[in-house]
Amino acid sequence: MADQRLDTVRLQRLSRSYREAATLMAGVEVGLFTRVAGGADTLPRLAEALGFTPTNAERLVTACVALGLLEREGERLRNAPDVQRYLVEGEPGYAGPWILFTKPEWEDWGHLAERLRDTGPPVVLGKYAQGFTVEEARKYHEATYSIGLGSGRRFVRQVDLARRRRILDLGGGSGCYCIAACQAHAQLHAVVFDLPPVVEVAREFIASHGLSGRISAVGGDFTADPLPAGADVVIMASNLPQYSREIIQRVVRKAWEALEPGGEMHLIGEMLDSERMGPPDPALWGLAEAVYGSTGLAHSVTECVGYLEAAGFTGVSARDFIPSVLTRVTGTRPA
Ligand SMILES: C[S@@+](CC[C@H](N)C(=O)[O-])C[C@H]1O[C@@H](n2cnc3c(N)ncnc32)[C@H](O)[C@@H]1O
Repeated sequence: MADQRLDTVRLQRLSRSYREAATLMAGVEVGLFTRVAGGADTLPRLAEALGFTPTNAERLVTACVALGLLEREGERLRNAPDVQRYLVEGEPGYAGPWILFTKPEWEDWGHLAERLRDTGPPVVLGKYAQGFTVEEARKYHEATYSIGLGSGRRFVRQVDLARRRRILDLGGGSGCYCIAACQAHAQLHAVVFDLPPVVEVAREFIASHGLSGRISAVGGDFTADPLPAGADVVIMASNLPQYSREIIQRVVRKAWEALEPGGEMHLIGEMLDSERMGPPDPALWGLAEAVYGSTGLAHSVTECVGYLEAAGFTGVSARDFIPSVLTRVTGTRPA
């Protein structure tokens, strides 16, 4: 094998990647991309619109251009295509709250090494254990909703719900999957099951879509409480790495018991590939659980298929849901 010349470039970039995250988040927080879209597309106009000194405007813009968030032609600036689509406030695809979703944990990640040395007992509910106020839950789910309704619509495009009657969405958050499903299928009803402060917020999202008559929200802890019966579809989306293998297995068994015979379960989550080599996003959601002191960790797609099979589901299969981010594992409770 030819000699591989090593250097520190990759390691240096990783060690300072918090600066990239901070640049993007600050851009969202100060409304940089919204201002550019609104016509403040030169440095002097941006400095004025943002109330920044010319030097600080230049610093931020230079970094955003270098990171590919802004594009520059002559003196004129424009947003990169994904920034234009998702980070311009007031546009339908605006996902700024989701970009800022993990920012409250910023300080904690600076203490990751200490957290990893912690040998104390884990807390089952991890970051949820201290309890949410309704106001905190609202902020949290403004962020999940800003990205989740698109996921809900994708789910509805992928899964045939034409003959289904009732969805149970475990940890359903804003209700985005149920909202998308009930919008697409007039015969469907749904139940969002989530922690008590969250269901109050879910009801607000559901009402804003005029679906309060068909989607209800029930408060409870799916690791400990009985699940509502009568569903022929169970969804559990985006809370996989927050729990240990044993807990996820237990919840999948409870979902099997709650389902009507012939019903189907969709476990959607951040999953490692079967060799547990990546991708990085699920691995880092798993690592985040060290910060919260929970039982959670990254699960592989093979493990998730195994949870459904061990619970009694048949025809279990896995497919990419959002490539490199979310995988969907599906199975049927035999009729
Ligand atoms: C990241 S959010 C995902 C929300 C929604 N499924 C989506 O994809 O937009 C995770 C949700 O799971 C809920 N959750 C986590 N643990 C729970 C538990 N033990 N019982 C009920 N809900 C739980 C949280 O409150 C939160 O609403």
